[in-house]
Amino acid sequence: MSSQIDHLLNETRKFAPSPEFADNAIATQEMYAAAKADREAFWADQARELLTWSTPFTQVLDWTNPPFAKWFADGKLNVAYNCLDRHVEAGNGDRVALLFEGEPGDSRAVTYAELTDEVKRLANVLTDLGVGQGDRVAIYLPMIPEAIASMLAVARLGAIHSVVFGGFSADSLRSRIDDAGAKVVITADGGYRKGRVSPLKPAVDQALADRGNGTQATVEKVLVVKRGGNDVEWTAGRDVWWHDVVPSASGEHEAEGFDAENPLFILYTSGTTGNPKGILHTSGGYLTQATFTNRTVHDLHPETDVYWCTADIGWITGHTYVTYGPLANGATQVLYEGTPDSPHPGRWWELVEKYGVTVLYTAPTAIRSFMKLGRQVPEQFDLSSLRLLGSVGEPINPEAWMWYRHVIGGDTAPIVDTWWQTETGAIMISALPGVTETKPGSAQVALPGISIDVVDDKGVDVGDGNGGLLVITEPWPSMLRGIWGDPDRFVETYWKMFQDKGYYFAGDGARLDDDGDVWLLGRVDDVMNVSGHRLSTAEIESSLVGHEAVAEAAVVGASDETTGQAVVAFVIIKESYLKAHQPDGLAQLLRLWVGEQIGPIARPRDIYIVGELPKTRSGKIMRRLLRDVAEGREVGDTTTLADTMVMSTIKGQVTGK
Ligand code: PRX
Repeated sequence: MSSQIDHLLNETRKFAPSPEFADNAIATQEMYAAAKADREAFWADQARELLTWSTPFTQVLDWTNPPFAKWFADGKLNVAYNCLDRHVEAGNGDRVALLFEGEPGDSRAVTYAELTDEVKRLANVLTDLGVGQGDRVAIYLPMIPEAIASMLAVARLGAIHSVVFGGFSADSLRSRIDDAGAKVVITADGGYRKGRVSPLKPAVDQALADRGNGTQATVEKVLVVKRGGNDVEWTAGRDVWWHDVVPSASGEHEAEGFDAENPLFILYTSGTTGNPKGILHTSGGYLTQATFTNRTVHDLHPETDVYWCTADIGWITGHTYVTYGPLANGATQVLYEGTPDSPHPGRWWELVEKYGVTVLYTAPTAIRSFMKLGRQVPEQFDLSSLRLLGSVGEPINPEAWMWYRHVIGGDTAPIVDTWWQTETGAIMISALPGVTETKPGSAQVALPGISIDVVDDKGVDVGDGNGGLLVITEPWPSMLRGIWGDPDRFVETYWKMFQDKGYYFAGDGARLDDDGDVWLLGRVDDVMNVSGHRLSTAEIESSLVGHEAVAEAAVVGASDETTGQAVVAFVIIKESYLKAHQPDGLAQLLRLWVGEQIGPIARPRDIYIVGELPKTRSGKIMRRLLRDVAEGREVGDTTTLADTMVMSTIKGQVTGK
């Protein structure tokens, strides 16, 4: 970490916003002062101004039982009404909500009136399928308008969605369905990815199939969108085609107001143990911060902007900045089904030109892949419509930041590097465009109404210029309300570390520079960040040892030029397996195994077969030393190892020397 800090310390470039941008910016310097004067009043103002409440709230924050917060608890609202009906009622029904582009090139513009109509019909269908307030609905869909409609229809009923990324395997889907106790799954036959149809329904069938352990799936109905046109198996009585029921359902549906603390969704994310955690978010506070941050950080002018957040709805970024934020703000956005390089490497830039995208929000890993391809690809397209660029998901290195600014932003569009997490629900640290002078590589400052600090392991502020742990010192509206079904794990994971101070421990290392700006330095726990996606070392290790060949496994995140970090695994093979099988191709076999078990994103970049793993005398694997090997560095201090020779053996096995 220290070499990284030294490198970042040399970064002194700053970019002031242009006067034109500043003049029209939604964010203002006064927001900081207002929030500082009275944080709760600031958030109450946002909640009242930006949202429509069916019963206005009188209470703002209830923090009488920390860390279990309640925001706007006596107010009622309908989240879907806020994202849809109210825009139609305000006369904006003809405004395009979604500019959908399928990977094969099919496109469809969906207006607010059309999306509202679709969601009302779907809400009626879901009611018929037995979904009511508090029921869980799993959504396993490609990036198509039906995915957004599904989230909103579930929200409209006061039910809880659990969106599972379409790239996750049947096993991952099954564990998420089971943990949430989902009653209905909404899926598609398949979706387009990299020029072909990637099936989804078979994974649902497999996830719901007889599990051979006496447990029964909680799922009663599966609603299936026809998208890929691929053949699917059909379970009569359980499976229902979307096109058979949604268009013919009634378009009348009254949006009922639900309590501000009514759960809105569960989203599973990797932690430090093998089982993903179901992060729970509720309605009023979440929607307030989603709407506020999307408006101010993305400087969203709904009448004129064409906004595009490239995240999949399977991740928190897709929840907050594809579905809830932009639609609550009444924005027009691009929704793209496919991968950035299909059918050609300039596909994204072609879309920016085609739709005149003005605000683009994406991940550093994408920027670095484009950098690798070279500027001649984006230069073939007219990107002059872009006026603001955003980054999310992992630290953006200054080189990528500068490339983004110069090649994509034409040296004028401000860049907002936004730090937040699945748990925080919405952006927490970012420049405010038009207000803040930006610095390449720094996420910079806490947003108005957000209180953070960088502290040592006792919770003491480290002071400007020093590195430490990032904490959030006051509750915020879109904070997670818990881990589904596991309140103890919620307390243990996030609040135990700084219990006496009441700080939220984010799991990230950070440094404050002399201006007080925050530089994120990556995770301090066993969570990896690969292409902006969170993966747990323990989850991949448990998948590897689940293979008959593997006796022991240790996984580390090694730095990677394109993906930020890459998964590198060290495995010990069982002697009994080696007696009966050829070792050739075993590493590749195990890579594919992890891909099947968890999903392709979890496939290790490298698997090294070794004879031993470095352990302390108490048997703890020293991942730090393995990371040194994986990154090709001199191996660090080995004195606490039970066998100090083991690292040279491992190094020899890895390098073949
Ligand atoms: O390590 C931080 C990193 O991503 C983690 C959160 O991952 P996830 O819950 O999947 O959410 C990603 C999208 C919000 C954080 O703990 N991270 C996120 N944004 C940044 C970042 N690291 C550095 N800079 C960022 N802007």
